[in-house]
Amino acid sequence: MKAIVLTEFGGPEVLRVQEIPVPECGPGDILIRIHAAGVNRADLLERQGLYPPPDPRPEFQIPGLECAGVVVQVGQRVTRFREGDRVMALVSGGAYAEYVACPQDNAWLIPEELSDIEAAGIPEAFLTAYDALFDKAQLTMGQRVLIHAGAGGVGSAAIQLAHRAGLHVVTTVGSSKKVPRVLEFGAERAINYRERDFVEDVRAWSHGAGVDAVLDFIGQDYLSRNLASLKTGGVLVIIGTLSGGDASINLREVLSRRLNIRGTVLRSRPDYDKMHLIQEFQERTMAFFATGQLRAVIDKTFPLEQAGLAHQYMVTNQNVGKIILTVS
Ligand SMILES: NC(=O)c1ccc[n+]([C@@H]2O[C@H](COP(=O)([O-])OP(=O)(O)OC[C@H]3O[C@@H](n4cnc5c(N)ncnc54)[C@H](OP(=O)(O)O)[C@@H]3O)[C@@H](O)[C@H]2O)c1
Repeated sequence: MKAIVLTEFGGPEVLRVQEIPVPECGPGDILIRIHAAGVNRADLLERQGLYPPPDPRPEFQIPGLECAGVVVQVGQRVTRFREGDRVMALVSGGAYAEYVACPQDNAWLIPEELSDIEAAGIPEAFLTAYDALFDKAQLTMGQRVLIHAGAGGVGSAAIQLAHRAGLHVVTTVGSSKKVPRVLEFGAERAINYRERDFVEDVRAWSHGAGVDAVLDFIGQDYLSRNLASLKTGGVLVIIGTLSGGDASINLREVLSRRLNIRGTVLRSRPDYDKMHLIQEFQERTMAFFATGQLRAVIDKTFPLEQAGLAHQYMVTNQNVGKIILTVS
């Protein structure tokens, strides 16, 4: 099969298509013929050698954490799928390829209303956002949340999920062009952080109280401002560290305002943990994708062979929603 195999780490030019054997389908696995795969920020780190796949290390290191396609083989213990089923899947690597094998519990059916391209943009972004909002931050209807990078893949998913759950959303973006888009996803207020101080605006928007939770992808540069944006007892969820991972913190502020800081990562979690998250996500949200009330926002598609260009594009921060690779 064709796959992007990492034989060296570096810039986008190391993403080259190679011919390798089709992966084996274990007894509890399904083999998926991939039609589309989502590009994630983490893939850029993996390409640079900064985000290795979890153990057991695969024979071929192929990036790609999510995909959509059709089941072409099922293992003997598989009960949930048949050959020919259209599925989307969360994988711990291997989606930049024509085929991937994964445990049946990591996949679920694509509603017939959705294209493969739309479906490929759902697993990683929406599961991450769902977990951050409802498990890590435990948010409930009527509460207020600050979602950074609101136009990104995870950010656009988080705004929609939060809005659907009756939360009040304020978000940050890096350009005024993105403002109307994030308002369309359900944010009540969008702050261009290049022009305005988000702490001040969040305070004003929340009538001086601060927000119940912050979903953060930026890390280092935002830590103290994120804490200042929280109300007493609020939760900061660290999902990414785009500006760096080292920051100092005023522990007296954490103590006196009873603040919570929680980290989350999807890829390296045990399979049973992912299975529970996927089941809950599926039961509570998939019907809304079928009706169009939730959608993976697709910015641009690139053929698999141009994965390097897709990475170059992501670095420019222009995308609103997901970048998808198509596999012909
Ligand atoms: N923990 C997990 O399991 C998990 C899972 C998925 C993703 N993630 C993380 O979540 C983050 C977002 O991923 P994604 O796939 O949604 O990426 P994405 O679509 O590329 O969105 C990221 C956006 O963040 C903003 N940004 C980038 N660098 C920034 C900086 N230094 N300061 C402020 N804003 C910056 C940019 O938007 P503006 O120009 O509008 O600011 C950019 O478009 C990444 O850090 C990724 O690693 C974590």
